[in-house]
Amino acid sequence: MSTTDASTFWDGVHTTRPAATDPRPNSRLVEAVTGLAPGRALDLGCGEGGDALWLARRGWHVTAVDLSAVAVARLAALARSHGLQELVTAERHDLHAAFPRGRFDLVCAHYLHSPHDLDRPTVLRAAAHALHPGGSLLIVDHGSTAPWSWNQDPDTSYPTPQEVAAGIGLDPATWTVERADTPRRIATGPGGRTAEVTDHVLLIRRTV
Ligand SMILES: C[S@@+](CC[C@H](N)C(=O)[O-])C[C@H]1O[C@@H](n2cnc3c(N)ncnc32)[C@H](O)[C@@H]1O
Repeated sequence: MSTTDASTFWDGVHTTRPAATDPRPNSRLVEAVTGLAPGRALDLGCGEGGDALWLARRGWHVTAVDLSAVAVARLAALARSHGLQELVTAERHDLHAAFPRGRFDLVCAHYLHSPHDLDRPTVLRAAAHALHPGGSLLIVDHGSTAPWSWNQDPDTSYPTPQEVAAGIGLDPATWTVERADTPRRIATGPGGRTAEVTDHVLLIRRTV
């Protein structure tokens, strides 16, 4: 599957959703980051950008990347309209082709799933290597299917956080797993519809 096909797919997903004026952050990000001193953050597959904007409001310098030009253009416009353009850099980037340059205090990847080619273990390993010592990698995956998800395949498998960690294969002398669990929450989808969903949360810290 080519990058063009993947871009077309994700542009379509984003285009069918109305542009948010102030998208909300993911609750797992808020849980994990509240209390951390701001630094440099990288948001992988940023989507509409609620996480990047939330981080920027707390003083983080955020590089937010997404394959979808629609998502990136919307986030860049939102950052400008909220006066956060100095703190948010929104870039179109295909993580299947290459990993963004730079070192970060926080890398987050929320629901970075795709029906197209995306070598997640390679991307997430690169993310762990891109951390400064003391930095955190927050990976939040779906553990269930929301009724409004683009993916309604009943055969979808949801690797546990432990399986995701094993797939990344990090050296415990350099990285420690600080959180690996499967909490539930009430999610809000398009049109204010709600449903209970499961998250697979993995928080890794680079120690040296
Ligand atoms: C399910 S959405 C999650 C968006 C956002 N992180 C959130 O929590 O709302 C997955 C995002 O990953 C992006 N994506 C998919 N494949 C990608 C790739 N190869 N490189 C970069 N971004 C990609 C999609 O465009 C989409 O915005």
